[in-house]
Amino acid sequence: MVFNRFRILLSTFIRRSNFFYLFLLPNCRALFLNKITFKKRLEIQQHTVCTGKGYVEIGYDCLFGYKIGGFNRRGSIEIQARYDNSRIKIGDNVKTNNNIFLLAANYIEIGDNSLIGQNVTVMDHEAHGIEPHNRNQLGEIGKVIIGLNVWIGNNVVILKNSEIGDNSIVATGAVVSGKFPPNVIIGGVPAKILKSI
Ligand SMILES: CC(C)(COP(=O)(O)OP(=O)(O)OC[C@H]1O[C@@H](n2cnc3c(N)ncnc32)[C@H](O)[C@@H]1OP(=O)(O)O)[C@@H](O)C(=O)NCCC(=O)NCCS
Repeated sequence: MVFNRFRILLSTFIRRSNFFYLFLLPNCRALFLNKITFKKRLEIQQHTVCTGKGYVEIGYDCLFGYKIGGFNRRGSIEIQARYDNSRIKIGDNVKTNNNIFLLAANYIEIGDNSLIGQNVTVMDHEAHGIEPHNRNQLGEIGKVIIGLNVWIGNNVVILKNSEIGDNSIVATGAVVSGKFPPNVIIGGVPAKILKSI
């Protein structure tokens, strides 16, 4: 009982102070090297961690996780700019559902006002080599650019060198590899243009 009260008080204190962010962006050398920047009014509704050594920029009014979005309680959001010079740039007013994994060896950009559904993975490299003798090497490294006001549905994977144009929608379940123009709906495995908006 007393412990519970203490816990509630402590969490209120944490939420109202900058400590909030320290709790939510833990085990990260980058945090202490000022490599993570976030502007005002960041709201976090699911456990969120930045785990890499690189740079993470988070814009104004972003929301990570959604309490009533499903799969909220046991999952987490992970933003990993893996190496010293890796960079993840998240624009203003970007909102994500639960269980997101952003993994950059080089560069991932998510444009302002974009919406990201649950169980979405974005990675800018292969993590393993293609040739049989290279499987334990990093493989090809590229980048991923997600435009402004893009809506990414649930259970989408976005692979290296993908670009999604402004206002486009990625239908649920898509595996995206390639460049797509603005104002289209893409979907399928591999993703193709389904229609224009
Ligand atoms: C893309 C989407 C928005 C539907 O848009 P829509 O304009 O109503 O599109 P339609 O249902 O008319 O479908 C257009 C075509 O795309 C196809 N299509 C729709 N969704 C698809 C998908 N996920 N994968 C593959 N093809 C799909 C349809 O079969 C149809 O094909 P056809 O023209 O050959 O019949 C919807 O399918 C979707 O994926 N929503 C995302 C939901 C979600 O994940 N929300 C996140 C909550 S956080």
